[in-house]
Amino acid sequence: MSSIKLNINGKEIKLPVIKGTENEHGINITQLRKETGYITLDPGYANTGACVSNITFIDGEKGILRYRGYPIEQLAGKVSFTDTAFLLLNGEFPNISEKNYFSKKLRQHANIHEDMKRFFDGFPLNAHPMATLSSMVTALSAFHPESESEDEEIIELNIIKILAKVKTIAAYSYRKFNGLPFIYPDQELNYVENFLHMMFSDSQEEFHADPVLVDALNLLLILHADHEQNCSTSTVRLAGSSKSNVFGAISSGISALWGPLHGGANQAVIEMLKKIRNDNSDYKKYVQMAKDKKSSFRLMGFGHRVYKNYDPRAKIIKSAADKVLQKLKINDPLLDIAKELEQIALEDEYFVQRGLYPNVDFYSGIIYRAMGIPTNMFTVMFALGRLPGWLAHWKEMLNSPDFKINRPRQIYNGHKKRNLK
Ligand code: SDX
Repeated sequence: MSSIKLNINGKEIKLPVIKGTENEHGINITQLRKETGYITLDPGYANTGACVSNITFIDGEKGILRYRGYPIEQLAGKVSFTDTAFLLLNGEFPNISEKNYFSKKLRQHANIHEDMKRFFDGFPLNAHPMATLSSMVTALSAFHPESESEDEEIIELNIIKILAKVKTIAAYSYRKFNGLPFIYPDQELNYVENFLHMMFSDSQEEFHADPVLVDALNLLLILHADHEQNCSTSTVRLAGSSKSNVFGAISSGISALWGPLHGGANQAVIEMLKKIRNDNSDYKKYVQMAKDKKSSFRLMGFGHRVYKNYDPRAKIIKSAADKVLQKLKINDPLLDIAKELEQIALEDEYFVQRGLYPNVDFYSGIIYRAMGIPTNMFTVMFALGRLPGWLAHWKEMLNSPDFKINRPRQIYNGHKKRNLK
């Protein structure tokens, strides 16, 4: 292993350099403070690796995204979301018996405890579905006390329970807040069909999910399934590092995802597009506002901490949005405004110079709207997709040979010692 030399106050130390399978290099500073008394400082962690991971690879400059080595372009629209979840969680696609067992377990555990349904009565009807989701996921730990166990089999079962139950909680939120009866999961349906069934079935009639919507949702869930050390996944790893139970760790990820700078951006994009539409579709005005340092306005769905090129997911979602709206014979003016915004921004020096391109959130809401999913549930859909990624990282973190509780340092810059008068 190579190393770099560092000279601090006349003392020279050697720091090992770690090289990943895709030639990323990192300076291992685990001995820095012990050897020199110095720490590093990196607000927002833009230059700091928190771990070594085998799950997802991103090259932000080239716009590359791979799950366990498979390019996202080869997965999206070609495999199922549940097979992708299995791949992220276990490192390989399932064989036939693994696939059947995984699907059977996901169906078997799709119900939530009947007493949990009463929780929905306690929420105000205007509660944000992310508030409901994070509270109900934490509450799952009360109904599954074995979640504290470190037994391998129980950990695997808890992972399946979360994957199976969170979509039921999401659908129940929608039903409750729209005054509709809860629709129970149907053991005959696969993961995506079951979610659409629980969301949109009319309890009086046989429900057949539109294959266009099933394919579109399968695609969106795969595209959101993982993204290495993003804000919410890092939150799950940090919360899980105290060995809090998996339901609590996932619930913290849901709360981190909720923010408009992260997963909440898909809701913010549609709200922004509606605002532009109601302002004579004057998108040029909003592009100027996004560039104006005096304005707090940002082009939601644009820019990314890692991608300084087109987010490969945005490319796929943009083309899927065209296809889905065409097949459903929907003409959504917001899609036209989104495309005009993108066109103007990508010809503008401000955006090009800063590497600001559409990200995963820019077009996804157009498809969710076409599905009839309300805007305030868009981030819940992001969470449904990201679940397998969160769970895969939680599992990888706990099984890591470097496992330890995450506890960053700081540089103190407050009062020096002073005494009470
Ligand atoms: C997700 O990390 C992940 O992987 C996240 C994610 C995942 O799958 O988990 O990909 C999902 O969260 C996608 C991002 C969704 N958020 C948004 O769309 C919100 C809008 N975007 C921005 O707020 C911003 O681009 C971030 C938060 C996404 C990234 O912010 P950074 O990396 O901290 O960049 P920055 O704020 O330092 O901006 C650098 C420059 C600044 O200008 P200068 O100070 O250099 O003059 O770019 C400007 C910013 O003002 N800028 C924007 C902008 N984003 C950055 N200007 C206008 N509009 C924007 N959207």
